[in-house]
Amino acid sequence: MRPRRLDGRVALVTGASSGIGAAAAARLAAAGARVFLTGRDPERLAAAAAATGGTPIPCDLTDPDQTAALAARVLETAGRVDILVNNAGQGWAGPLTEMTDAGIQALVAANLTAPMLLSRAVLPGMLARGGGHLGFVGSIAGRLGVREEAVYAGTKAGLSVFADSLRQETAGRGVVVTELVPAVVDTPFFARRGRPYPRRRPRPVSPEQAAAALLAGMFGGRAEVCLPRWMYLPIAVRATLPTTYRRLADRYG
Ligand SMILES: NC(=O)c1ccc[n+]([C@@H]2O[C@H](COP(=O)([O-])OP(=O)(O)OC[C@H]3O[C@@H](n4cnc5c(N)ncnc54)[C@H](OP(=O)(O)O)[C@@H]3O)[C@@H](O)[C@H]2O)c1
Repeated sequence: MRPRRLDGRVALVTGASSGIGAAAAARLAAAGARVFLTGRDPERLAAAAAATGGTPIPCDLTDPDQTAALAARVLETAGRVDILVNNAGQGWAGPLTEMTDAGIQALVAANLTAPMLLSRAVLPGMLARGGGHLGFVGSIAGRLGVREEAVYAGTKAGLSVFADSLRQETAGRGVVVTELVPAVVDTPFFARRGRPYPRRRPRPVSPEQAAAALLAGMFGGRAEVCLPRWMYLPIAVRATLPTTYRRLADRYG
């Protein structure tokens, strides 16, 4: 499903230089939105921006000053942000004891602090206009926990509860808060984190499918979208039968 026409709307997409974010930026631009794309790699970001006709703004979201400057620049340039897609994220896999302090801090800053800072920056305008869309790309890891991905899973769990809480805070004021909960998406994510995806199931979906699911959820007013849909099942089992779930997780990983 394509988002409805978005002419005149301003969108900011983080992690738009690659994967899900690049696909989301392309869809938003195709629907008529004025899109600002951000990422770290200037060349890939420029290519993604050129492909969408959007505006690239390089930014390292582990740096709160750069994150604040990004929000300020988009708001100054466009005067508003109607659609914020908090998609950027980085992974790390391995035992917690092998993670550096800097590595932990980078994951928390990029995956959790930056979406909070950006949401706070754009929310006053959305509330004043009585409308806006905040999209968050979470992860099944944040709902279930994953062995040797404790910090990554922790950031995504925090993001999920942040989104839920913000939805309650803004209820009835025109702001739609949506979380995409993907399992596995065929992007450079796994190569970049240094450990390939180790399983056969769930099967990877394309970044285009993930972006389409996110935007359909956002413009359909949905609180959360699991991808694939059967991922609702382990989430429900963990919520209702936690002891059974943990036994199964210990056994099957
Ligand atoms: N792929 C999966 O299986 C999967 C599953 C569940 C959830 N997710 C989530 O989906 C989101 C998008 O990931 P993806 O799969 O599309 O991976 P990807 O292709 O590696 O893209 C990640 C994007 O995030 C950006 N990014 C990472 N760290 C950043 C930082 N410190 N500052 C600014 N930008 C940063 C990257 O920018 P540069 O490349 O320019 O640095 C890139 O644009 C992430 O939040 C990820 O956790 C992915």
